[in-house]
Amino acid sequence: MTSSVKNGPARDEVQAHRGASAVAPENTLSAFRAAAQQGAKWVELDVALLADGTLVVIHDDSVDRTSSGTGALGALNRADMDHLDAGSWFGGTFAGERIPTLEEALKVLGELGLGANVEIKQHKHHKSLDQLIGAVRAALQTRPQGMPIMISSFDAQALAAMHRLEPGLEMAMLWSKVPADWQAQLAAIPATTIHLDYRALSIGFLEEAVEGGIKVRAWTVNEPSILASFWPAGLAGVITDNPAAFLS
Ligand code: G3P
Ligand code: MG
Repeated sequence: MTSSVKNGPARDEVQAHRGASAVAPENTLSAFRAAAQQGAKWVELDVALLADGTLVVIHDDSVDRTSSGTGALGALNRADMDHLDAGSWFGGTFAGERIPTLEEALKVLGELGLGANVEIKQHKHHKSLDQLIGAVRAALQTRPQGMPIMISSFDAQALAAMHRLEPGLEMAMLWSKVPADWQAQLAAIPATTIHLDYRALSIGFLEEAVEGGIKVRAWTVNEPSILASFWPAGLAGVITDNPAAFLS
């Protein structure tokens, strides 16, 4: 049997960044449905706490950029979400879109047959790591049975705390650059996956990671040619606004 050189991601290694956010408003149910329509098997989404402890799916620490309203997450409650339109900023056809809770998002993702890469954001208004992690865990416990989940974060402490509660889940450390002591930092969580800004990728690093049993995915890449040289070196997956580009 001959081995073939890998020249692209496996179909289940194409993750839709904030949903298919090139064609629908990020981190909304519409973006998740669009990801499924494009053939993605996984969605990456961002979660953060509101003032009342509700865990919502949103990237920023305010609703200003991605909704019809204004305000810091730390000054808003769940009832405030009912008055926000999270779709019109992207396009008129998405008017009425809501900012979902993680629980709501997981329900729909389960119906779509998608896995969720839950990126835990750490914002200044978050009062306690225990509260944040507890809210993530509570939402995860409501997910449809058998639904694939992985956790990612730029915050190693959040990953370590999540691992203690859910040791069976894949933990992915998010980095913009690879730190010198990357093996030690992963071991301390412990995690065996890195989600890395594609601009920090190198063939040498990928080969070292693969040799050490570490999986590497790249974010956020919308043009497949950017990653062409990295698949043969062992790049595992991609997080993209445009899953269709990698799934044709
Ligand atoms: O998961 C990769 C990517 O989502 C990390 O950056 O800022 O888009 O959440 P950001
Ligand atoms: Mg993210």
